Amino acid sequence: MQNTVKKAIFPVAGLGTRFLPATKSIPKEIMTLVDRPLIQYAVDEAHAAGIEEFIFVTSRGKGALEDHFDRAPELEATLERKGKTGLLEALRSTNLDSGAIATVRQRQALGLGHAVWCARHLIGDEPFAVLLPDDVIAADTPCLRQMAEAHAETGGNMMAAMEVAPDQASSYGILDVPLGMSPTLPVTGMVEKPAPGTQPSNLAVIGRYILTPRVMHHLGEIAPGAGGEIQLTDAIAREIEVTGNVYGYRFRGERFDCGSKAGFLRATLAFGLARDDLGDALEDYMYQLIAQRRAAE
Ligand code: G1P
Repeated sequence: MQNTVKKAIFPVAGLGTRFLPATKSIPKEIMTLVDRPLIQYAVDEAHAAGIEEFIFVTSRGKGALEDHFDRAPELEATLERKGKTGLLEALRSTNLDSGAIATVRQRQALGLGHAVWCARHLIGDEPFAVLLPDDVIAADTPCLRQMAEAHAETGGNMMAAMEVAPDQASSYGILDVPLGMSPTLPVTGMVEKPAPGTQPSNLAVIGRYILTPRVMHHLGEIAPGAGGEIQLTDAIAREIEVTGNVYGYRFRGERFDCGSKAGFLRATLAFGLARDDLGDALEDYMYQLIAQRRAAE
């Protein structure tokens, strides 16, 4: 695979109010799905797609995110002394090389598009990926890698896309695309959080993007959109008008909305069940729990 995309932006400045009080003292992205923080899933996915530079757009109180990917010398020494090689390996797999991570601050919560724009000086004149860590995607081939492979054919801009129920469309960026079953679809328009019943399709944008530097440029020029925020969707929509080189990519895999409590719980069950060391016991317990609930009805 000829991969030209080496930099990825992770917008992680959000306050995570939906998970209060948990997020009073820890960043939402550090909340754990089984035994790994949410951010780890996104970083691993980017890594698997050939990303070499990881740019976190943070805000106050997000220091734990940087620490998580740094070395932990005392912990490593202790595990080494005790001969706990499995744990040591798990720990070391989280280390990123010096200089691989950069952070920039978003000083004010002005929207996803604004958060991405905050990384403009680190991106320069290169294509870049954006991963929203709230969207966790279980897939045999990691989603961003699938996209990078498709993008090597198309170039331009690409977003992960998935069908959603019509009554859910107003929670997403929605694509205007020709009918068809091909995974890569040329996009002729897109709208952020359309009013119920006005969506151009039921194909929603999911938080994985491969973008050209021009989209970054548009982000610096566009006015606030849906919710009074600078929207990434609007900058990409402008690029559709300018070059038309924008694609939706129907990925293979299951997406979990870990920005909601219900989605986080579902992901916890699905990832727990998929684990060799936990799956069987968890499944037994789930059956037991369901039987108890049924008996009590
Ligand atoms: C963001 C994007 C939206 C996209 C969604 C996917 O919305 O603005 O276009 O469909 O992520 O998760 P948010 O969930 O931040 O409101």
